[in-house]
Amino acid sequence: MPPLPPGEGWGEGAEFATVAPRQGMPIFAGRMGTLSSQVFEALRTGKPVSDEEFDRVFPPWARKPSSLHWTPLETARRAAELLAWREGARILDVGSGVGKFCLVGALTTDGVFVGVEQRKQFVEVARAVARRGQVPRCHFLHGNLLELDWRGFDGLYLYNPFAENLPDHEPIDETVKRSVRKYRRYVRFIEKLLTEAPAELRVVTYHGFGGEMPVSWSEAAYEWSGSGPLVLWRKTPAPRGRGVEELQG
Ligand SMILES: C[S@@+](CC[C@H](N)C(=O)[O-])C[C@H]1O[C@@H](n2cnc3c(N)ncnc32)[C@H](O)[C@@H]1O
Repeated sequence: MPPLPPGEGWGEGAEFATVAPRQGMPIFAGRMGTLSSQVFEALRTGKPVSDEEFDRVFPPWARKPSSLHWTPLETARRAAELLAWREGARILDVGSGVGKFCLVGALTTDGVFVGVEQRKQFVEVARAVARRGQVPRCHFLHGNLLELDWRGFDGLYLYNPFAENLPDHEPIDETVKRSVRKYRRYVRFIEKLLTEAPAELRVVTYHGFGGEMPVSWSEAAYEWSGSGPLVLWRKTPAPRGRGVEELQG
């Protein structure tokens, strides 16, 4: 298994918008450290925590998109449980935002959570929250998913990451240029990746990912969670002794 990806960003993709209006804003006001420790301890020990309580570990501008763009806490907890089925399982959050899914996953399972995110300011917040709350097994990479080394992951989490590129969807902010062309490219990229993925890989989608799951995958679990479908996908092994041509014929 390849070593953990480095914590630093890689490949400042050409698709990044140059304007980041929130750049230079302080990530935290002073009280944040104590608050996040309390919330994280409650989660770790299985106490009920509301989304509103959890989101207060983020600075106000980073919690604003939460109701629409970050996974609800209970959904994140369940998705992590479905993915991190064994100790040390390495889970990638494709488009990790401010890190909510990874933070919840690392606090409630024994998995190792890696998030890749194109918005630098979100990656900085995620790293700062994890550091201040001493959340273990949580790593955040800055960059475009097209440039990622995808080897070595046991599970992928996809919360409809590309939807904001579509004209009828709410953008998270104005720091990334939106385009339907980019949307199609990302969706096709994921479809190809899933087609070629090893049989052991687990995938959980929340509200889908915008594309079709390749025929080699089927639903292993389906439940309604938060505001939409949460689905665990597994690769269906080809029947023994039958070639591709026979299956197609
Ligand atoms: C719907 S949000 C989900 C955030 C997080 N996974 C969660 O559940 O809380 C999708 C995120 O994917 C990121 N994203 C979209 N396209 C990306 C790409 N090509 N590379 C990296 N991140 C991307 C967006 O910037 C956004 O933060």
